[in-house]
Amino acid sequence: QTLRPLIAANWKMHGGLSWTSKPSDFEAIYPSSERRHLDVLICPPATLLASMNDGVFLGGQDCHAAVSGAHTGDVSAEMLKDAGATYVIVGHSERRAGGDTDEDVHAKAEAAKRAGLIPIICVGETESQRDAGQAEHVVSEQIKASVPDIANYVIAYEPVWAIGTGKTATPDDVDEMHNAIRAQVGPDVQLLYGGSVKPANAESLLALKNVNGALIGGAGLEMESLAAIARAA
Ligand code: G3H
Repeated sequence: QTLRPLIAANWKMHGGLSWTSKPSDFEAIYPSSERRHLDVLICPPATLLASMNDGVFLGGQDCHAAVSGAHTGDVSAEMLKDAGATYVIVGHSERRAGGDTDEDVHAKAEAAKRAGLIPIICVGETESQRDAGQAEHVVSEQIKASVPDIANYVIAYEPVWAIGTGKTATPDDVDEMHNAIRAQVGPDVQLLYGGSVKPANAESLLALKNVNGALIGGAGLEMESLAAIARAA
């Protein structure tokens, strides 16, 4: 079965209301009439969500597991939905490094479902885990513990050592890992690769059978490079 490609930009903590990258610029560079075969998603900082509504899907970068309450500084999945999100990233390695456990990620993914959002559940091994030959084991355990029993979710495989480093996993490494994840989660789950994806390497990664899209950090901040990656899908 062919799954619809999803090209997702995670802006992390970048951008403001005067930020020049806008979904409307993306629309001008790569109009929706030419990209009916794929979905494009931008996950801006939560402060920008409600101001962005042009032609691409929007998502949050994290959410709290509760609907509301005394959680200073946090944003719930319901709030993201209210501000225009369709997706939410959970378990990004930068959040896991800040203390999120598999259990937290599991609860956040359930919260996403409760709010009517599609969670993008991130997994990935560190460099030392890969060097120790543990990559597939680590990822498989993260999936077991982080993915709740829900029908609609996306997995993003992001090897921690490839994030923001310019070091991309080789197509062979990605192929092997994505085949293993596919065997674990079944045929219906979109599997994204993330970690230094850029226009120059997008085609070789997106051509892999079990890579159904990309989660893009740095190269997703500029609409030209995001469009170039999307055109490779
Ligand atoms: O969520 C996106 C990833 O962390 C990848 O970031 O493309 O800057 O390596 P990067």
